[in-house]
Amino acid sequence: MISNTIWVVGASSGIGRELARQYAQAGNNVLVSARRLEKLEELVQEAPDQITAVQLDVVDEDSIESATKRVFEGDSTPGTIILNAGIYKPMSHTHFMARNAEETMIVNYLGVVRMIENILPRLLKAKSGKIVVVASVAGYIGLPLSLAYGPTKAALINLCEALRIELMGSGVSIQLVNPGFVKTPLTAQNKFQMPFLLDADDAAKRILKGIDGDQFEIAFPRRFAYLLKLIRMLPYAISLPLLKKMTGS
Ligand SMILES: NC(=O)c1ccc[n+]([C@@H]2O[C@H](COP(=O)([O-])OP(=O)(O)OC[C@H]3O[C@@H](n4cnc5c(N)ncnc54)[C@H](OP(=O)(O)O)[C@@H]3O)[C@@H](O)[C@H]2O)c1
Repeated sequence: MISNTIWVVGASSGIGRELARQYAQAGNNVLVSARRLEKLEELVQEAPDQITAVQLDVVDEDSIESATKRVFEGDSTPGTIILNAGIYKPMSHTHFMARNAEETMIVNYLGVVRMIENILPRLLKAKSGKIVVVASVAGYIGLPLSLAYGPTKAALINLCEALRIELMGSGVSIQLVNPGFVKTPLTAQNKFQMPFLLDADDAAKRILKGIDGDQFEIAFPRRFAYLLKLIRMLPYAISLPLLKKMTGS
């Protein structure tokens, strides 16, 4: 039976860790996954009765299969699965590397695809459950330094749009999270001043609130997300030079 347990994939640091903490603090059972078991165990120590670690590498099909089996055959089958695992390697035209693009696509995009392949049939069978995919506002439009990362998030946005349409009426829902800049180990690599930067606990609060509702997209900070959406609607002859100027690239 599907319960209201939450499964956070990519929970060993940053946004995912804060999501797990806040769900546990609110009294939920939480399953936490990532590759670094020691980090997950630290999280478990914060609320041992509510948080359970399930080690998982989204690049490894066997690992996904056995973790999903373990999770869905346990006492507390998750009703909400948050697919948050991701990597970011800043890449610009001067260091253009296919290997970087490939690695990022395998984790950020195919990692989500492989998770959905394992989860979706179970949710469809139960006619209930929610999949939450963490993409990024970087998927709205091409941005400097995002030559490897941005395309993975654009692909996720497109995938979620299509799934949202197909899943209508199935009892299973899908939500898309598009954060702006959040202070985490992932963005600690950025040397530039990040506009509208949020703390991870603030980002997690906004995501929790969005998941409580059922609107398709949870995008924040709103001013930043709307600004980028607006720029995306402009003709390229205006939007691309504007982005060059705004980012100082
Ligand atoms: N921070 C931002 O400004 C920002 C903005 C928009 C979107 N996002 C997205 O938000 C998500 C979380 O990012 P974050 O900023 O919180 O970064 P983070 O602190 O680096 O966390 C990334 C998480 O993904 C996990 N992960 C990476 N590769 C994995 C793999 N192969 N298998 C399983 N788990 C894996 C990491 O765990 P292990 O290393 O232990 O496996 C970690 O728990 C990412 O999808 C990111 O793209 C972040």
